[in-house]
Amino acid sequence: MYLGKMHIGTLSLANNIFLAPMAGITDLIFRTLAREFGASLCFTEMISANGLVRKTERSYHYLDSSDHDRPLGVQIFGSDPDILSEAARIVAERGADLVDINMGCPVKKVLKAGSGAFLMKEPEEVSRILKKVRSAISIPLTIKIRSGWQKVGINAEDIAERAQDCGVDAVILHPRTVEQGFSGAADWGLIRRVRDRLQIPLIGSGDIRTPEDAFRMIDESGCNGVMVGRGSLGRPWIFKKILDSSPGSSHFPSLAEREVIIGRHLDMMLGVYGEAIGMKKFRKHLLWYTKGLKGGTQFRQSAVSIVDKRAMLDAVHTYLRSLAQ
Ligand SMILES: Cc1cc2nc3c(=O)[nH]c(=O)nc-3n(C[C@H](O)[C@H](O)[C@H](O)COP(=O)(O)O)c2cc1C
Repeated sequence: MYLGKMHIGTLSLANNIFLAPMAGITDLIFRTLAREFGASLCFTEMISANGLVRKTERSYHYLDSSDHDRPLGVQIFGSDPDILSEAARIVAERGADLVDINMGCPVKKVLKAGSGAFLMKEPEEVSRILKKVRSAISIPLTIKIRSGWQKVGINAEDIAERAQDCGVDAVILHPRTVEQGFSGAADWGLIRRVRDRLQIPLIGSGDIRTPEDAFRMIDESGCNGVMVGRGSLGRPWIFKKILDSSPGSSHFPSLAEREVIIGRHLDMMLGVYGEAIGMKKFRKHLLWYTKGLKGGTQFRQSAVSIVDKRAMLDAVHTYLRSLAQ
């Protein structure tokens, strides 16, 4: 098992534990929190290359970042080599440290447009895209792929090798087929098989919920780094728990520490979105923070109607205190 520094192309990373791109979740606030707990590289959610080239406000909004939000991976999706390379150039010019191309999104609308995981079906097109994008930017370039379209026809190895041949600096693999969506288990054995075919770094993604999972993925697959997605929802401290194996770290966070983290998260949300929208947007995080805790359902039922920050913090305080008893 290897936890430690890592390089992706020219990018030097403090460790090999990353925050996965998640649409609707990995905005500046969530990335900031993940970084505070040690994630060394965080990704934006997937951003439409078309939207960036056409300069739509929404797409640019996803690029919102800060000096502390570094190094930043910006993920783009699209199907046209020219548009993708133009979008990559825009993103690099705006300060991204790494560009990732999404080749794993299984959402129908994205597939219909010939982008996301649809590209797994089009190896030749993948090479065309990557050659073009590679020549457009000098910062590190990665791709995030799935196993393949369906069980018969797994082609992650082929796509990963093509990427390497086109000068891509690392491959990120979420080893489920498009057909699988998010069901079943991620096939960590495939990470091992792809690892064996590559010289460039391979990052594994899928089903890391605990530090032990992270260690096991690295051990079993030999991957160079791991990404945590859903395992960080309501538990942004998972990065610290993976990185910090000192005695006593398994008790982190205590209920009091959890309260501080929730308060900080809420503060950041209100700072960016204002109280009305911020409180609304915070609800899904509150759900994740309290998922699986005793009396969580009841607490959430009463907390959803709270629209005032002070009242929310008081409710969280009272609830978490009740757990301590
Ligand atoms: C709500 C949600 C949104 C996601 N959005 C993206 C995305 O924008 N780009 C991407 O490459 N993967 C996306 N993913 C996939 C994750 O990055 C990750 O590969 C997958 O969830 C498996 O890892 P996990 O088990 O750690 O969540 C998303 C996953 C979820 C659950």
